[in-house]
Amino acid sequence: MLTQTQTKARTLADLPPVETDSLLALIALCNADPRPEKIDVGVGVFRDGAGNTPILKVMKEAEQRLVDTQATKAYLGVSGDKRFADLLRPIVLGNHADDDRIAGLQTPGGCGALRLGFELIATANPTAKVLLGTPSWPNHAPIVRGVGLECVEYPYYERGQGIIRFEDMIAALKTGEPGDVALLHGCCHNPTGADLSEDEWRETIEAVVDRGLIPFIDIAYQGFARGLEEDAFGVRLALDRCEEVIVAQSCDKNFSCYRDRVGALFVKSGSKSVTETAMAHVGQRAREMWSMPPDHGAAAARIILDDPELRERWLVELTAMRDRINSVRQRFASADPRLAFIGRQYGMFSMLPLSKDQVLKLREDHAIYMADSGRFNVVGMGDDQIDRFIGAVTGALAA
Ligand code: LMR
Repeated sequence: MLTQTQTKARTLADLPPVETDSLLALIALCNADPRPEKIDVGVGVFRDGAGNTPILKVMKEAEQRLVDTQATKAYLGVSGDKRFADLLRPIVLGNHADDDRIAGLQTPGGCGALRLGFELIATANPTAKVLLGTPSWPNHAPIVRGVGLECVEYPYYERGQGIIRFEDMIAALKTGEPGDVALLHGCCHNPTGADLSEDEWRETIEAVVDRGLIPFIDIAYQGFARGLEEDAFGVRLALDRCEEVIVAQSCDKNFSCYRDRVGALFVKSGSKSVTETAMAHVGQRAREMWSMPPDHGAAAARIILDDPELRERWLVELTAMRDRINSVRQRFASADPRLAFIGRQYGMFSMLPLSKDQVLKLREDHAIYMADSGRFNVVGMGDDQIDRFIGAVTGALAA
């Protein structure tokens, strides 16, 4: 009989292979393609008419001010920049901004907020199930499972018809038990672009209330669909109607500061003291994972939000990004009836009803890089590439 010490130890050599995140793999593939005409509509970064992802002018200025005035880089603590999180409150929470049952903290991007929020759920209720409409952002289910929670998927979208399977969604939410979580996209649904209408939001939140679910809203693209206020409709409604709400917010897109990883988590409970306890757990989880969030991007965003003139200029630049997204969508929609659904959707993504093989052929024959699911970034290309993209895609749809 083998003793404990004689048993073969498991080592790093025993690790199973990892299925890499498809979006990250696509970035690498596209970068390696030498064809100058390549079109990268894979990952979700805004590109302007010239095909660039420029740093916002107002962000450059705020960064300069930060460099000029920052006197120390001493630690800020697990919550990061408190003023940054406070300034976001009216933007995200609207007339709930003064509710002392809601607390927030800075996180490393929206992804950090998602992870922390689910860490909190798993700490409070390890048997909670997370109801997730599919398709969803490819990192949602791994984050949920990563904290040890069960992810229960239901169909959200009918790709061929470009419509939300709303009845299926409501039916799925009605299977939830009290304390289970409904993970919802605040706006600019990723990957489909198919957002809930205001009436659908009302019905969704009523189902959530009926079943005693906790709405967990991922709002990573606020301001990219209809406007900062309009895009927060679902968040505000959930806060109106539900005692416990989690909101994972990201500034990476609406401040165009992707790699700086700027986000925030907001937690609402039934009382100020419960929220304080919840935030103590959140702080502890953050401490275990990254200790403190990176400062630079959030500090620059804070400078913008704190200065009326810079804030106004940010809103102008944000509006310009949104207008480009929506005008490119209309250009697609009017180019071919089979693309009309793109004009009815919001944000950077839509999904083309293409098979994996068709997506691969677009890559090989036309140097067009989109996710295997058919998700593409509508503003992933410059204006001069749009007609070629439409030609290639409609050709593939006809094949
Ligand atoms: C995307 O969906 O392309 C973005 O959210 C980037 C990411 O981290 O996946």
